[in-house]
Amino acid sequence: MADTSTSYMGLEMKNPVLAASSGLTDSLNGILKCDAAGVGGVVLKSIFEEQLISEKDVYDKYSNIYPEAVDYLREGGLLEYAPQKIFQMIDKAKQKTDIPIIASINCRSPKLWPTFAEQFQDAGADGLELNIYSLPLELEKSGSEYEQQYLDILKSIKKVVSIPVAVKLNHQITSLPYLTNRLSDAGCDGLVFFNWFLEPDVRLDTLSTNNIKGKGDFHRTLRWVALLAGRIDCDISSSGGVRNGKDLIKHILAGASCVQICTIFYEKGLEQTKEILNELKTWMDEKKFQSIQEFQGELSLKNQQLSFKDMGEAQSYFRAQYLKTFKK
Ligand SMILES: Cc1cc2nc3c(=O)[nH]c(=O)nc-3n(C[C@H](O)[C@H](O)[C@H](O)COP(=O)(O)O)c2cc1C
Repeated sequence: MADTSTSYMGLEMKNPVLAASSGLTDSLNGILKCDAAGVGGVVLKSIFEEQLISEKDVYDKYSNIYPEAVDYLREGGLLEYAPQKIFQMIDKAKQKTDIPIIASINCRSPKLWPTFAEQFQDAGADGLELNIYSLPLELEKSGSEYEQQYLDILKSIKKVVSIPVAVKLNHQITSLPYLTNRLSDAGCDGLVFFNWFLEPDVRLDTLSTNNIKGKGDFHRTLRWVALLAGRIDCDISSSGGVRNGKDLIKHILAGASCVQICTIFYEKGLEQTKEILNELKTWMDEKKFQSIQEFQGELSLKNQQLSFKDMGEAQSYFRAQYLKTFKK
């Protein structure tokens, strides 16, 4: 029988399915449901800075941190999810399950990242995922200045925690190879390709704007996993558009250690985990692979080059222009 266990940032997982950060993982009940469905690990719903700071903090010490955002969260009931409750939730979850629990944090003020990271480590989280994002709006600020923020945040956190730390990236970064290599040099343990966002839309009847749910892009993620796996000293977790076992296998062939799944769980339920894992096991048996490690990264750029195939089977990751491929 195929062994589906994998290792992600040093965390041992019984299989490569991680329940991605979302409403599915924002409560003890949610975590236990994911566990019962058979996932290999969970990433908790992101905790936003505004959820962790108390009113006193906001008005005394960090009065520059959007008090209106705090009010908004409080009105929406989101402050219920913080802060002691979250730490207790992690503690209870750790007593009831042994799958890795990764806490996801999102801060706006540089000073608060390491403080919160340390608190989640103390609460018993097995790892951290940094949900870093700032929309580049300023006309005078270069891409590298924005990207430096990733490094500064990671370095400040690595100074204070010993649990593994992953950075969840967005696809708008100009040179992913350069930034990911620098993150790896700064001690990053895992990279998550890519984050998902709300997208804007326009209402023609009311002449107003609204948000629609974004979608993870399977092929874009596959390209970057394959181009970077093994070339940077970090594990990679794919997040975006994985809907079945075949999709999961493709990401592992490209070099991912595990995949993060969200939308398909919302659409079809956590029972999909079993189907995805059955598909994985059946394929591994057919191909006579006994472990994930035997085929992880087989179709990454690095492995194709190492096996003296030049670009070998990895050509398609580069071809982004239509030119001949789809000529009529
Ligand atoms: C309802 C919903 C809530 C989400 N909340 C978060 C979040 O709090 N933090 C985060 O990093 N990603 C969040 N995500 C993104 C997912 O973790 C995941 O990266 C993304 O949905 C891509 O995977 P998928 O194609 O399987 O949905 C959310 C996604 C959805 C659909």
